[in-house]
Amino acid sequence: MIVINKASEMQVIAKSLQKQGKTIACVPTMGFLHEGHLSLIAYAREKADVVITTLFVNPTQFGPSEDFSKYPRDFENDCKLAGENGADYLFAPQEKEMYPAEFNTNIHISGVTEVFEGAFRPIHFDGVALIVAKLFGCTMPDIAVFGQKDYQQTLVIKRMIHDLNMPIEIIVMPTVRMENGLAKSSRNKYLDEKQLDKADMIHKGLLEGRKLIESGIRDRQEIDYIMAKELSKDMDFRIQYLQSAKADDLSLPDNFDKKDDIILLAAVYLGNTRLIDNELVIAR
Ligand code: PAF
Repeated sequence: MIVINKASEMQVIAKSLQKQGKTIACVPTMGFLHEGHLSLIAYAREKADVVITTLFVNPTQFGPSEDFSKYPRDFENDCKLAGENGADYLFAPQEKEMYPAEFNTNIHISGVTEVFEGAFRPIHFDGVALIVAKLFGCTMPDIAVFGQKDYQQTLVIKRMIHDLNMPIEIIVMPTVRMENGLAKSSRNKYLDEKQLDKADMIHKGLLEGRKLIESGIRDRQEIDYIMAKELSKDMDFRIQYLQSAKADDLSLPDNFDKKDDIILLAAVYLGNTRLIDNELVIAR
């Protein structure tokens, strides 16, 4: 695997690959790779001739009081894991090249960015859209692979691709979980052993919601109530949202239609660590 640090060098390589008729898959990451990321790289490996994993902890998607500076980083290990799991290139640009002093462009996608994560992290999706557009400009992919764990992010990126006529296929891969059901996340590193043990309660709450929907219940408040029932009794957890919504646009009808795919979304603090998770219930 070849590590590229310069955007211009990445573009020369991507252009040359395109000229040779090779398909390119991009797997954007912020590093500290875990099995979730590796499943994306492995899928990209199957689908395209060349796999480019990107590694950039993007400052513009973190709010001023968020964890940008302490976000876990391990460049050596990321190189090893990305290479072993099928990446041909690791594109790891420098912050000053991605955002030089004269940088003056923003991307704002309205609608789907304004609820759930967007309501609690107002600048987050502007930063995500901006960096993903830039990474696509550098890697020129045919397909890009993201994890369902950041469900709302995948809707935002699909919206951007569509609205900005970017000819890229967006693939969303299932969340990889620990044995107890906790979604794999780089931020799990912040949890101590006791917290790691009980963090699975978030997914268990989501599964209660799934059960209710599968039993035929479509009343949104009833679904939301059952998901939060156990978690809200435990003082170690602080729920930001634990709610059901229509999966395609995150709208909140009083009653879901039988034909609606429903997404169950969670953002919960366990101690000082903010964890997100979701469960997608497809209409049968
Ligand atoms: O999902 C992530 O890790 C990040 O939001 C992404 C897509 C790499 C953009 O920084």
